[in-house]
Amino acid sequence: MIGVFDSGIGGLSVLAAIARALPRADLLYFADTAHVPYGNKDDAAIRARALRIGRYLAEQGCRQIVVACNTATAAAVAALRESLPRIGVIGVVPGIKPAAAASKSGRIAVLTTVSTARSERLARLIRQHAGALRVDILPCPDWATKVETLQLDDPDFAGTARRLLEPVLAAGADHVVLGCTHYAFLVPVLQPIVAGRAALVDVAEAVARQCRRLAGEDGETAGQGRLTLSATASPERLRRALTLLGLESLAARLSGPAILADV
Ligand code: DGL
Repeated sequence: MIGVFDSGIGGLSVLAAIARALPRADLLYFADTAHVPYGNKDDAAIRARALRIGRYLAEQGCRQIVVACNTATAAAVAALRESLPRIGVIGVVPGIKPAAAASKSGRIAVLTTVSTARSERLARLIRQHAGALRVDILPCPDWATKVETLQLDDPDFAGTARRLLEPVLAAGADHVVLGCTHYAFLVPVLQPIVAGRAALVDVAEAVARQCRRLAGEDGETAGQGRLTLSATASPERLRRALTLLGLESLAARLSGPAILADV
């Protein structure tokens, strides 16, 4: 079984890609909804949550864990790998590398949580893959909460997003990296803003390919394509989000009602 976790519903964007790549794998999605958002917490608090969740997923029988959260990856992926040496742990990092490789203008922007924006991991990623480019890091306080509460068509939010992006687009940024898994669900709002000027970059498909490589033949054939949802608060909201976000293909794999997990 593959465990996939996030602070809330953002990681469902990664889960959907994994489910497409591994149609027969059994999947357990864990949303830490009692502690969302992670993006305004300090590293120690995020790491403590990630370690508890990692242990829980391993106890449930997960042989692979996907940290479907840029914020938790930056703060905790190394600690998770150290504490679970027999589990394959895959993290999610903003798509700086593909964006830098594709950029023609030499300028890209990355939208992230406040925590990811100040992380050493993001700074390192930029040094490694975009050292010769101008990279604008745009922290987006409250955006994940916007998604979490499913207020996706709020006209005020579209205005906020436009005001944040307009200066970097006007300055020539030709790729905008979605550096938080929640932001994949904001594409309908962001796409009209960047249209004709920049491409949005999401890494969910790349993470799913990595998952398939790690799962190998066994991962593909061992399961029955079942999905279990669990959350630390309001599990029924997580189930409802599948429908509201148009993720019916995930709903079709559900093995039962969403579970409240005391983790
Ligand atoms: N979805 C998460 C990420 O990719 C974090 C959102 C949050 O809880 O602040 O960074």
